[in-house]
Formats: sequence, structure tokens, C-alpha cells
Amino acid sequence: MTGGARRLIVAIDGPAGAGKSTLARALARALGYTYVDSGAMYRVVGLAARARGIDPADGAAVAELLDGLDFALRPAPEGQRVLLDGRDVTDELRTPAAGEWASRVAALPEVRQRLVERQRRLGEAGGVVMDGRDIGTVVFPGADCKFYVTASAAERARRRAREIGAPASDLPEIQRDIEARDRRDSERVHAPLRAAADMETIDTTGLTADEAVGRVLARVTERAKA
Ligand code: DC
Repeated sequence: MTGGARRLIVAIDGPAGAGKSTLARALARALGYTYVDSGAMYRVVGLAARARGIDPADGAAVAELLDGLDFALRPAPEGQRVLLDGRDVTDELRTPAAGEWASRVAALPEVRQRLVERQRRLGEAGGVVMDGRDIGTVVFPGADCKFYVTASAAERARRRAREIGAPASDLPEIQRDIEARDRRDSERVHAPLRAAADMETIDTTGLTADEAVGRVLARVTERAKA
């Protein structure tokens, strides 16, 4: 980064599997910023609720659980590690079950309110790239740069299959799961996933990861000089 450039808040939103976190992580590295994966917070709460047999639709019970939960996000060379009760749970958080439970507890206003507060504390000083579903709309509506990263559902299913080593015959089911999660994230009443008018949409369907990073990096660097 050039001296004197402002340290910005960069918000990256979009559906699951669009390449958001790869993009956000690479961008943070290139800028010397901290990467914050806000989805990991919802995943921690989902995982803890599942482990303790708490109904993910019971707002009061999940809020009580969250208030007593000791977890922390730690910047790491590969992006971010997550500690729960002092134990590194980063890999467990990536499982489909954690994603499923995260999506359920993310629909609860009691959970969103608490996690949004934590996200604001982590990012308010700037020099941060935060990704999620509502970063540019709710968490930091005044963010310096806001991107909506997306890709077709078919492309996202292909990427997901590659990531988990699933055969091509599983693609229809993977795509159906992705579409179901999109619907739940976009149709929920509280802070639904949406592209706001002041976000720049980056469709990664036909782009390599490097191309997507190059495009976003150019925008942010320009903005940091302004
Ligand atoms: O990005 P992810 O797959 O790790 O997100 C897990 C779930 O958390 C997903 O269903 C959407 C939800 N989420 C959210 O509602 N708001 C955020 N800022 C980040 C994630």
C-alpha cells in the first residue's frame, strides 16, 4: 500500500459459493488489511446450538447460548481462524451441517443484533475486508467500498462439487441445496441477502479468481487515494 492512503472498510456480500471469501481473503492480503469472515460467527453459533441440542428456531434460547459463548476470530496467514472455548474449530465450521445450522440461527433477530455489534467493533477502525450477506446493507452501510459478488447457481454447484470431491452425478442435488439456502437467506425477514443500489456487482461466473481480485483491487486502490 502506498503511504498516506486511507485504510478503508470494504464490504463484500453475496450468496454462498460465489467466490466471496476467496476474493475477500486475497484482497485483504494484497492491501495489508484484516480479513473478517462474518459467516464464521453464524457458524459458531449454529455449531454450538447443535452440540447442545438447542432448537435453532428458539430465539430466546439461542440468544442465551450466544451470550455465554466464548469465541474469537483471529487473523491468520491463510485468512482467519476461529476459537470456541479456546479450541480451534475453524475446520469444523466448514462442514455442511455447520452451514445448515448457521443459516437457521441467522434468521433470528436476537442473533443478528448481537453479531452485528461484534462485527462493527471488529471493523470500525478501518483497514478491513469483511464478507457476509448484510455487510454493506446493515453492518457498514457507510462502507467505503461495497461489492456484491455472485455467480450462477450451476457454476456455484460445480465449484462446490470440485471442493468436496463429489462426482458429477451429485451436481443436481448440490445445486438444489444451494438454491434452497439462497432462498432462505434472501427471503428471511431480518437483513435478507440483497444487492443494494450502491453496491458494485461482480459476477464471477466467467472469471478466474485472479481476474476477480484484479477488478476489485483496482477499485479499492483508486478509492483509497481519493
Ligand atoms: O458465508 P457462510 O456460508 O459462512 O454463511 C453461513 C450462514 O450465515 C449463511 O446461511 C448466511 C449466514 N450469514 C448471514 O446471515 N449474514 C452474514 N453476514 C454472514 C452469514
